[in-house]
Amino acid sequence: MARSFQPTVRRLRFILWICIAIAASGVTALLIGPEFRSPPSSLQNARSLIKARFALIDQQHRPVTEKSFSGKWLLVFFGFTNCPDVCPTALGMVSRVMDLLGTKSPKLKPLFVTLDPDRDTAEVLDEYVSVFASSIVGLTGTPMQIKEAAKSFRVYYARVTQDEAPDGYGIDHSALLYLIGPDGKFVAHFLHQQTPEEVAKAIEERMAE
Ligand code: NI
Repeated sequence: MARSFQPTVRRLRFILWICIAIAASGVTALLIGPEFRSPPSSLQNARSLIKARFALIDQQHRPVTEKSFSGKWLLVFFGFTNCPDVCPTALGMVSRVMDLLGTKSPKLKPLFVTLDPDRDTAEVLDEYVSVFASSIVGLTGTPMQIKEAAKSFRVYYARVTQDEAPDGYGIDHSALLYLIGPDGKFVAHFLHQQTPEEVAKAIEERMAE
């Protein structure tokens, strides 16, 4: 049975601060993921650390891996559909980026990988991502598959008790968008607070290189 969700102003302020803290620690989280011991000193190191591999299922329950999108640029974001703020902001930005890319948009495939596979089934993701853009592919899997995918991208996430959240929990997570090249290699990351114009321009520049 769904719990009623009646956030107080104080609660919302708390959530906002959590989002700000997560955003601020996004880059740090990238570098100090669970398996990480000595932070990379350069983008080249980040490239060697972020493997961008996954074996998940899409909204139609089809098994997909990074190879399923071979030859495409990928813009990958990890989150969960009950996220109050960061994920909707990021996906809204992605949607706008796709609009801005115009005729170049078919070269880019945005992926939204859930960090909450217990709730975010293929059906839930299908409904959620379609709110933002029809081009976004929602990916889920078993908890172990999600863990492996997150580890491959060096994404930090943790289930946290939040009494007033739906089902009494939320997911703390790093909030970077990862740009992966057509060769499957990590190219760059963006922050969810960046403007769609900035991100679209950066992607276009990379595509032109
Ligand atoms: Ni989120």
